[in-house]
Amino acid sequence: MKQKGLLYAGKAKSVYRTDNAKHLIVEFRDDITAFDGGKKDTLKNKGNYNANVSAFFFSYLEKHGVRTHFIRMLDENRMLVKKLTMIPLEVIVRNFAAGSIVRNYPFREGSPLRPPVIVIDYKDDSRHDPMLNDDLIIALKLATPEELKKIKAAALKVNSLLSTLLKKQGITLVDFKIEFGKAGKAICLGDEISMDSMRLWDVKTGESLDKDVYRFDKGDVMATYHRVARRIMAPKKKGKAKREKK
Ligand code: ADP
Ligand code: CDP
Repeated sequence: MKQKGLLYAGKAKSVYRTDNAKHLIVEFRDDITAFDGGKKDTLKNKGNYNANVSAFFFSYLEKHGVRTHFIRMLDENRMLVKKLTMIPLEVIVRNFAAGSIVRNYPFREGSPLRPPVIVIDYKDDSRHDPMLNDDLIIALKLATPEELKKIKAAALKVNSLLSTLLKKQGITLVDFKIEFGKAGKAICLGDEISMDSMRLWDVKTGESLDKDVYRFDKGDVMATYHRVARRIMAPKKKGKAKREKK
């Protein structure tokens, strides 16, 4: 497998063609942005943490029946994926009120949302990713009603699998954004699932363990990404936990 020309350079990742027309390489760069690209930095090793956490989540989801684009990691920053025709939707699932939902609606920060709330934005930076509803998604022909149903069901399944997984590590999955694409007719989870695209709170302390540390200058971003990546990917062994209890 050979890396070929650059297909697309986004805000945090670059996508390359390969010698296989059905495969792409996603390179997770060290760039970080917030507020519609208004705040930008380059943080050493950030790409590595996000790539590895994404790979970990994609493998876990695949094992539990969610179809994803993930094939394998090529090195610390580069992931081999199935080429998808991306659907320009940002599918956000919220378990607790935080971020834009608190700014735009009368929710108290941290209040639980039961059942989880799905919000779908139109992925278009020039329009500042406006929120859509089902009728707009159909009218804009971004997805068919059947595809939309599958996308929402997959988003809720991802939410339930990842919420349970993270809770075991003492982390609350507050909200996250995922993107889907099509491989032929099949709907497939693409892009990334990482500290850049999720809101994670420490169950005990409520401390932010995600990009909010960068957005709001809450502390050392890379120290947080390093700690949370280790916590997510190297779960405590049951035996060890037992010994610690004694
Ligand atoms: P943005 O476009 O939001 O600035 P990134 O820097 O994350 O985002 O760039 C990665 C781009 O690659 C995104 O536009 C994403 O939709 C696209 N992408 C992710 N996974 C795939 C895939 N499997 N096939 C094709 N495109 C993909
Ligand atoms: O608070 P903010 O305006 O950043 O966004 P939000 O609408 O509250 O975001 C909800 C969740 O989706 C957060 O976990 C964001 O990190 C994530 N998100 C993302 O990854 N990319 C976007 N373009 C928008 C939201």
